[in-house]
Amino acid sequence: MLVRLCLDYVVRAHLMSLKIAPALNAFKDAFNQEIEEKKNAFELEAMNSKLLAEKVDITLPAMPYAQGRVHPVSATMAELSQIMKGLGFAVVQGPEVTTDFYNFTALNIPETHPARQDHDTFYLPKGEQGETRLLRTQTSNVQILAMERFQPPFRIIAPGRVYRCDSDQTHTPQFHQMEGMLIDKNVTFAHLKGTLQYLLSQFFGKEVRLRLRPSYFPFTEPSVEIDVGAEVLGDEGHKISKGTGWLEVLGAGMVHPNVLKHGGIDPTQWQGFAFGCGIERLAMLKYGINDLRLFFESHQSFLKHFGHHPAAR
Ligand code: DAH
Repeated sequence: MLVRLCLDYVVRAHLMSLKIAPALNAFKDAFNQEIEEKKNAFELEAMNSKLLAEKVDITLPAMPYAQGRVHPVSATMAELSQIMKGLGFAVVQGPEVTTDFYNFTALNIPETHPARQDHDTFYLPKGEQGETRLLRTQTSNVQILAMERFQPPFRIIAPGRVYRCDSDQTHTPQFHQMEGMLIDKNVTFAHLKGTLQYLLSQFFGKEVRLRLRPSYFPFTEPSVEIDVGAEVLGDEGHKISKGTGWLEVLGAGMVHPNVLKHGGIDPTQWQGFAFGCGIERLAMLKYGINDLRLFFESHQSFLKHFGHHPAAR
């Protein structure tokens, strides 16, 4: 076919007093068109035979697909935040890598203070200005950042990750806390107690019992630890109860004047309260989980049982 075409054009060109270039161009066009047509025909044939061979059985059941769940730690942080937002607290976040100023010094824990040794701190290489850098051991670092950022009066909570160099059934090197802070005029211990009573009864149920025990934290004065009525279930598990047992869930107190000063707030004008709680501890109590490490091992059976569907709340 091609040879015939070719000869045909050459002969025609010769006859047309040797004007061969237009003839060759016309030949090229015809040649390309022929190839294109053949290619299309082959492709159509291939598609048709593929369609004939393929059969989809639309009566087959759909493929199962795995649906992720909200981790109980995330669910607990979301629930606590929701309750506090209802009281007008803003949710803020602070850095997990910070300096010893924000994690200790500004919180009234000077370099030589024994409370520094209570925290098994992960230290990092020094910063550019020679500052001591570390992974925060408590969300209390956000207290200072909030004071630097907001003009009083303000109220904030700060849920997030914290780190301590510790690992056993009741400690993991990384865990979660939620900090709370309210700065205003004429704030009293009664406001603190009322706020925490509300938070814990919303979270655990109206019947939860609270006990405030005098305690010591360098950044609050006076300080308390707060226990909830709970009964031991064995193997470290606890359950909220009306019985006689108690379990510590929170640290709190009135913000120390030195902390206000470090945050640039005049303690003769303003005062406030602060509190901090361990998220896993609250989640264990609420959901009846007895080993802290389960939160971090990501076993499907655990996540399926305790996690909830993202649209379920
Ligand atoms: N940061 C403390 C801890 O990790 C908890 C705490 C106690 C936070 C008292 C506070 C507070 O804000 O007032 O153990």
